[in-house]
Amino acid sequence: MIILGIETSCDETAVSIIQDGKKILANIVASSLELHKKTGGIIPEVAAREQLKCLIPVIKETLAKSGLAPKDLDALAVTSGPGLIGSLLIGVETAKALAFAWGKPLIPINHLQGHLYANWLETDNPPQFPILGLTVSGGHTDLIIMKDHQKIKWLGGTRDDAAGECFDKCARLLELGYPGGPAISKAASEWVTSNSKIKIPLPRPMINDQTLDFSFSGLKTAVLTQVENLKEKKEFNQENIMALAYEIQEAITDVLVKKTLKAISQNQVASLLLAGGVTANPRLKEKMKAALKKQQIKIPLFIPESKFCTDNAAFVASCAFFNFQPSPWQKIQADSSLEIEEVIKF
Ligand code: KG4
Ligand code: ZN
Repeated sequence: MIILGIETSCDETAVSIIQDGKKILANIVASSLELHKKTGGIIPEVAAREQLKCLIPVIKETLAKSGLAPKDLDALAVTSGPGLIGSLLIGVETAKALAFAWGKPLIPINHLQGHLYANWLETDNPPQFPILGLTVSGGHTDLIIMKDHQKIKWLGGTRDDAAGECFDKCARLLELGYPGGPAISKAASEWVTSNSKIKIPLPRPMINDQTLDFSFSGLKTAVLTQVENLKEKKEFNQENIMALAYEIQEAITDVLVKKTLKAISQNQVASLLLAGGVTANPRLKEKMKAALKKQQIKIPLFIPESKFCTDNAAFVASCAFFNFQPSPWQKIQADSSLEIEEVIKF
């Protein structure tokens, strides 16, 4: 089965054509990142206007790259939420028009569920159920149990800022630019290679509490306080910025790893899946692997290739293949606050 997926929930305009949920026939991600770098973050109207300009050309280019024509497609899939409403509307309304014009079934996809399907791409050894999924992106930090494709249960998530959002906001405070995750990761590596002895302690919010929830806004405030202190003392320099970047990355990844291990101890788990933009963070991958080894947890860990951690339409089309539930196009609506609970079936 060949599915064309469309993803426009944030600042990317992404289109993919995927066969049987795993084989990538064509995959294009057009990003308006350069525009957002200038403003230090995403301006929703700017993102939506770019998507309006790019989506049809990107769909044409993806079809051309795959060598397929619309008649060769079995279905279309589109992210219907959560995300930025203007951006979602561009993808959803375009997908509806094409489904009608081409006479194809259309499957609406929850972006959070979709992210996990990056782990089904280009592999002959897919994850086994029950699955524990950690989705960490710019908008979300969620722990999810999947007993099967349709059987999803949300275990916990962030009560305020998402992990990626925390990376982005802290990078802004450190004047490291946008997007913050890769910028902090780079500065943290530089701190390690510099052999600096400076250490600026930061809190690990909610790391020892009983729930599987997260909170990152306090960490951001702690960074703000440190930055203000350094500026006052005229010590807001390269070395201290790198030391803070290192500690921010350690604090966020410590919490993510600890809560994931807690979730494993409380649930029957056959595979651990990481997904979302923050999963591209090398330190998170390294610490997660080390923690599983240290605790002698022999559950296979799935981490998508970095380009499939961040937003793309390959996971949208893959998710649609494994959760093939077309809706009449007239009923599909963009929903900026769509919850993962809305796909729960147990
Ligand atoms: O999944 P994604 O592309 O979009 C959302 O659904 O939000 O995630 C984007 C987030 C941004 O906050 C970005 O800073 C973060 O992922 N990110 C990273 C890294 N690469 C991207 N965070 C930490 N380390 C990275 N290497
Ligand atoms: Zn995402």
